[in-house]
Amino acid sequence: MPTEHVNAPARLPRHLAVIMDGNGRWAERRRRPRAVGHRAGARAVNVCIDFCLERGIEALTLFAFSSENWGRPEDEVGALMKLFLNALEREVDELDRRGVRVRFIGERERFGELIRRQMDAAEARTRGNDRLHLSIAASYGGRWDIAQAARSLAQDVAAGRLQPEQIDEAALNARLCLSDLPAPDLFIRTGGDMRISNFLLWQLAYAELWFTDLLWPELDAVTLQRALDDYASRERRFGLTGAQVASRPHETAE
Ligand code: IPE
Ligand code: IPE
Ligand code: MG
Repeated sequence: MPTEHVNAPARLPRHLAVIMDGNGRWAERRRRPRAVGHRAGARAVNVCIDFCLERGIEALTLFAFSSENWGRPEDEVGALMKLFLNALEREVDELDRRGVRVRFIGERERFGELIRRQMDAAEARTRGNDRLHLSIAASYGGRWDIAQAARSLAQDVAAGRLQPEQIDEAALNARLCLSDLPAPDLFIRTGGDMRISNFLLWQLAYAELWFTDLLWPELDAVTLQRALDDYASRERRFGLTGAQVASRPHETAE
C-alpha cells in the first residue's frame, strides 16, 4: 500500500479521555459561586456524550473529580457531591436507553454511602450496553491507580499465585482501571492549562494531547470536531520512524 494512510479520513479515536476543566473560572467571570459553574459543566457532559455517540467513538473517559479535589473548600466539595447524586438520579435512564455502558473509576470508598449505591446501581443497570463505554473518573488519581495495581500484584505474590519474575507491563496493566479498553488515543483538556493533573498517567503514555482555552461549560461540538480533525492529521509513530509507520499503516504499539 502507498503512504496516503497518514492522513486517511478514517482516523477516528477509539477512546477519548477528557479533563473537564474551567467550571470555577466560568462562574467567577460571571460573579457567580463556583457551584454554578459545576452545574453548567454538567450540561457540557451531555454535549460530549452526544458527540461521541454521533461520531461512533467507542469509549469516553471523563475526569470529574480528582484525588486532590477532596482538598477543596468543604462547601464546593459538598456542592459537587450533590451534583453527582442528582446527575446519577437524572441521567442513568437516558444513558441506558441510548446504549451507554457506565462505570466509575477511582477510590469509591471515599464517597458517602448513597452515592456509592447509586454508582453500583448505574453500573449494574447499564452493564449489557456496548454502544459507548463511558467511564467517569471520580476520586481518581493516576498515582492511586498504579499503587492499587501494585498492591494487587503484591497480594498475588504473597499468596503464591504469581512469581515476581512474572511481573511485567502486561501484568501491571491488567490490574489498572480501564484495562479492558483500548488505551486512550486522544486526550482533550479544556480550561487552558497544559498539564495532566494526575489523570490516567499510565494509560495516556501514547495518547495524542489536545488543549483548548475554552472553559468546560462552553464546550460545543465544533470544538470537539476540531480536536478530532487535528487528531486525524497527526502521524502516530509509537517510537518507530515515519517510514516504518508508512509501510505498516494499520499497526499500533498497543
Ligand atoms: C473542573 O473545573 C471541575 C473539577 C475539578 C471538579 P474547576 O473547578 O477546576 O474549574 P477552574 O479550573 O477552577 O476554573
Ligand atoms: C483536574 O482539574 C481534575 C478535574 C478536572 C476533575 P483541576 O482543576 O483539579 O486541576 P489543577 O489542580 O488545576 O491541575
Ligand atoms: Mg481547574
